[in-house]
Amino acid sequence: MGKYLLFELKFADIYLREVLSRFEADHGISYILKMGRLDGKVIVLSAGAQGMGRAAAEAFAKEGATVYATDINKEKLMELSGVAGITPEVLDVTKKDDIVAFAAKIPKIDVLFNCAGFVHNGTILETDEAAWDFSFNVNVKSMYLMTKEFLPKMIAQGKGNIINMASVASSIKGAPNRCVYGATKAAVIGFTKALSADHISQGVRCNCICPGTVTTPSLLGRINALPDPEQSMKDFIARQPMKRMAGPEEVAHLLVYLASDESQFTTGSSVVIDGGWSN
Ligand SMILES: NC(=O)c1ccc[n+]([C@@H]2O[C@H](COP(=O)([O-])OP(=O)(O)OC[C@H]3O[C@@H](n4cnc5c(N)ncnc54)[C@H](O)[C@@H]3O)[C@@H](O)[C@H]2O)c1
Repeated sequence: MGKYLLFELKFADIYLREVLSRFEADHGISYILKMGRLDGKVIVLSAGAQGMGRAAAEAFAKEGATVYATDINKEKLMELSGVAGITPEVLDVTKKDDIVAFAAKIPKIDVLFNCAGFVHNGTILETDEAAWDFSFNVNVKSMYLMTKEFLPKMIAQGKGNIINMASVASSIKGAPNRCVYGATKAAVIGFTKALSADHISQGVRCNCICPGTVTTPSLLGRINALPDPEQSMKDFIARQPMKRMAGPEEVAHLLVYLASDESQFTTGSSVVIDGGWSN
């Protein structure tokens, strides 16, 4: 290979291309423009204020996407207001009317990442009906409501991509004290596969990710709420085959791949990212 120059750019710049072409012609040096992996894509996600949703919003924007990051936690969400490529928007994904109004403002969508979820702690004996319904509402019905609004836009475009947040604690692995949580995340896997089967012929693909234990604010909060947080943290880590938990940004790498066209032959998959926990 001869001499070349490498430019990493966020957006295509026609003027720069012209200048580079002239430079190439005048000096006999080739150029390579490296674009973002998600350039031009519009991505809507929930749970953008913290944890994996926030890490994903930042990673998506870094790769050139236009990101609408939603959450109910306005204060944390607004920390993203100065970040290039991200529009934070308060949205409760259990409220149908709010979702309908929000979706009406977004004419084009390439990727929907349904991330919001709640972890209930307990066996079935510690799960009353209200807790059961709350978890299914936040973890599963929210995905139904969001998808119902955004899928028709994808079908009209002839192309779309839905990513759902499941968990290894689901149909993949029975985790102690995760009775209703595991049931909801197994439902997310089933929902993902059903969407994929129904809409593959319309150009829409759908996958879910199944993380193991990830150091997010809610996980740290759950550990801190236990009687002996220090020992509980040691126990959590001891259960991990890699003797560590994942960082949200490690999961965001997988999400960038699934959101990009690099994964265009992947649909109906539940992708495990758990450091070998379920192996
Ligand atoms: N942390 C883990 O170890 C882990 C592992 C597997 C799967 N998950 C799943 O990942 C997802 C994100 O969890 P996390 O731990 O990264 O972040 P987190 O639990 O720390 O944050 C969740 C975010 O969701 C938002 N949220 C909650 N209810 C909402 C609603 N009704 N509408 C809109 N937003 C709402 C919260 O305000 C919060 O910002 C959840 O679905 C969770 O079940 C987490």
